[in-house]
Amino acid sequence: MKVGILTGGGDCPGLNAVIRAVARRCFERGHEVVGIRAGWRGLVEAKFLPLGPRETTGLLPRGGTILGTSRTNPYTTDAVEAVLGNFESEGLDALVAVGGEDTLGVAAKLHAEHGFPVVGVPKTIDNDLSATDYTFGFDTAVFICTEAIDRLHTTAESHNRVMVVEVMGRHTGWIAVMSGIAGGADVILIPEHPISLDEACADIRHRHERGKDFSIVVVSEGYELEGLADESELDEFGHVRLSERGVGARLAQEIEQRTGYETRVTVLGHVQRGGSPTPRDRVLATRYGLKAADLVHEGRFGRMAALQGDAIVDVSLEEATAELKTVPDDWYQVARAFFG
Ligand code: F6P
Repeated sequence: MKVGILTGGGDCPGLNAVIRAVARRCFERGHEVVGIRAGWRGLVEAKFLPLGPRETTGLLPRGGTILGTSRTNPYTTDAVEAVLGNFESEGLDALVAVGGEDTLGVAAKLHAEHGFPVVGVPKTIDNDLSATDYTFGFDTAVFICTEAIDRLHTTAESHNRVMVVEVMGRHTGWIAVMSGIAGGADVILIPEHPISLDEACADIRHRHERGKDFSIVVVSEGYELEGLADESELDEFGHVRLSERGVGARLAQEIEQRTGYETRVTVLGHVQRGGSPTPRDRVLATRYGLKAADLVHEGRFGRMAALQGDAIVDVSLEEATAELKTVPDDWYQVARAFFG
């Protein structure tokens, strides 16, 4: 078999570990592996990179993706025929698509409409894919944010300030909630459970009245607030660039005005996605990669490797991409127990 692999959407720690695991298992079974450059764009433009044992060693701890990535959507650029044609002319028999809701949404559609032989691997620091407990990359992002929150604690305390930390998570607050709980945040604001600015300020005031003279507020980039910057250009999947809306800066301004406490903002941005994966993400990415290679070998297309409890299982791509996995209320209540 000739097996293609692509990585699409925002990059994510652990992508190279998946490539390594898929390749290793495929080689063991005598299959050929071909890398596709820059996500779906590589199939639109026929950009291939043969992968052998030499190209796929030393990848486990490496951040980013050796294949490159893009937010190309063949469905909005009328390029589905090109994808199908280039896949065939390259002589590929199967594709492993490593991505989040967008990349895997395309994979699900290609499979449903054209019987395209694809399997998926759930990637995103946002952890918002359904049918899997965790996506790889999330643990690393939470680790980085938690470390940042720990560091902000000491400077907040020294200056008696409120520190607002803006973290990623396009539509969901998974990173904010997990790193906020781990870092001991005093208020956490996420899109799914929007507490108002008045409530947030009341929590901060309450904390200061009970003797604390600094606070940490974690806000997810997708949290809605009046007066945010105009929307930026949309990408091919129709998403705005949330980092440009400035929710952290706006929130800091409001908190300072309403409470009178000196406030600063830190936007963690792409630091959350860069660099080496945590051990947990290396292991998860490796297990996902082996499972994806197994699904390809067994001809079980239209499936995605997933984590359920401690087991790696497979679920349908359709189920995984049907709706986003938001933060459930019981998780938010764990965080909320420590507000104020
Ligand atoms: O989907 C992952 C993610 O990191 C989101 O959390 C964030 O909103 C987005 O990608 C940023 O995308 P870009 O790197 O294209 O600015």
